[in-house]
Amino acid sequence: MWRQKLATFIGQYDHPSWGITHSERVYELALELAKQQDVDVDKDALLAAAYLHDVGALEPYRQEGVDHAERSAALAEEMLIYVGFPPKKMPLVKEIIMRHTVSAAPPTSIEAIVFRDADFLDFLGAIGVARILAIVGIEDWTPDLKTAISLIQRRCQELPGKLLTRPAKRIGKVRQAEMLSFLAALSNETDKLENL
Ligand SMILES: [Fe+2]
Ligand SMILES: [Fe+2]
Repeated sequence: MWRQKLATFIGQYDHPSWGITHSERVYELALELAKQQDVDVDKDALLAAAYLHDVGALEPYRQEGVDHAERSAALAEEMLIYVGFPPKKMPLVKEIIMRHTVSAAPPTSIEAIVFRDADFLDFLGAIGVARILAIVGIEDWTPDLKTAISLIQRRCQELPGKLLTRPAKRIGKVRQAEMLSFLAALSNETDKLENL
């Protein structure tokens, strides 16, 4: 069964921020966003995209200078053929993956829209803070705690305004408030982040 095969494949990569639990949260949240808008979505395409959308950011698949969404989409195609995923749903999976990043053109299908919102929401709130702190010293762009906190501040300011659906905007406000409260407490406890 393709679902089990994909879960086993992605389960091997226990990255603290882009591992299988990120995939599962994004999938569940994307379904919830669709439900709250009363729209039907292709769950197979969403699940396949959830498992594979960030695989191009993981070792050994990442490639210097290649956008991780592009890399993931190419790998997803190979992987999905291999596990016996329904071929007619492949274009939708690739669209969801290609359009999930901030730099990509805004998505048009409902699946890609709820997926992007769900992925952005996983960078907000307590989980967003946890995921960024988890990669300090692991990813090049978060070499130390100070850089990670700056990234949290940036995400907190920028991402809520990029959410597309009404339910995601609602959740985004709650998660933004969680982040702001964390940042305010941290600032108080570290002499305005000077003593981090
Ligand atoms: Fe991603
Ligand atoms: Fe992601």
